[in-house]
Amino acid sequence: MNHFLEISQLPRQQIESLLHRALEFKQQERYPSYSQHAVVNLFYEDSTRTRVSFEMAANHLSMPVINLDLQNSSENKGEIIEDTVKTLAAMGIHYFVIRHKQEGLQQQLANTLGNAIHIVNAGDGTHAHPSQAILDMMTIMEQNPQLDQLKITVLGNIKHSRVANSFQSICNKLGVGELVLVAPPIWQPQSLDYGRVTDDLVDGLTDADVVICLRVQRERLLETEHLDLESYRRDFALTQKSLAYAKPSVMVMHPGPMNRGVEIDSDVADGKHSFILEQVSNGVYARMAVFESLILN
Ligand code: CP
Repeated sequence: MNHFLEISQLPRQQIESLLHRALEFKQQERYPSYSQHAVVNLFYEDSTRTRVSFEMAANHLSMPVINLDLQNSSENKGEIIEDTVKTLAAMGIHYFVIRHKQEGLQQQLANTLGNAIHIVNAGDGTHAHPSQAILDMMTIMEQNPQLDQLKITVLGNIKHSRVANSFQSICNKLGVGELVLVAPPIWQPQSLDYGRVTDDLVDGLTDADVVICLRVQRERLLETEHLDLESYRRDFALTQKSLAYAKPSVMVMHPGPMNRGVEIDSDVADGKHSFILEQVSNGVYARMAVFESLILN
């Protein structure tokens, strides 16, 4: 693996190997040292979990890590991102974790910048968020290793969700039994990689083993895509009442950041079925597995 750009590009065996290694890291107290491999975080969109998680993953592996302060970088003087990456590579940094609103930007950089530079996609617009898919699946498999027997429901603004896109890809690759994407018609995707779409919350939640609730993502909505949040809550929110349709053992997940009281109620987000903080913990191990796979290549 030279870059980590999107789940659909990876063979099933590679995905299984990343998951296996992430679970192994979770059991270990000591980690290998990759101190000669420096990594830089380039986050052009806001982040709490993903940026810090990649930084923690690099720290655990003894990789020097730089968080470039983009508010004060030379891109403000007109430098293009390709030149920023080449400049940092000339200093000996070869691992670039990039989040950007432009879909496909990381792929474009990977295509043009040569094999010595390794690009990790930490989210590109509404397109893909592959490390989120690894940590989500890791969290599910810890509780439910038999993926072919699961009904997994993703609920919310599917159309604008890079999390839902990458999750569809990993479900497809690993053969999840049933994937249901629940969204109001205006937030349904135009094409699907895997699963089926419905606007029927009861259909989506009935007997679900796992429910992944998504943020409404107001910042990505076009003028014509806005919904009244009260009506959204009434028909699509994950509440104790709606969750009761799922299996008694249901796992509740959310990639974060959550809008409490909008897409999910606090007593569900913090309740006994919630694995939301476990997802965050697992994210560090998942990203360690990604770095190691790029380094050992
Ligand atoms: N899940 C996720 O990408 O969260 P952040 O935006 O906080 O990184």
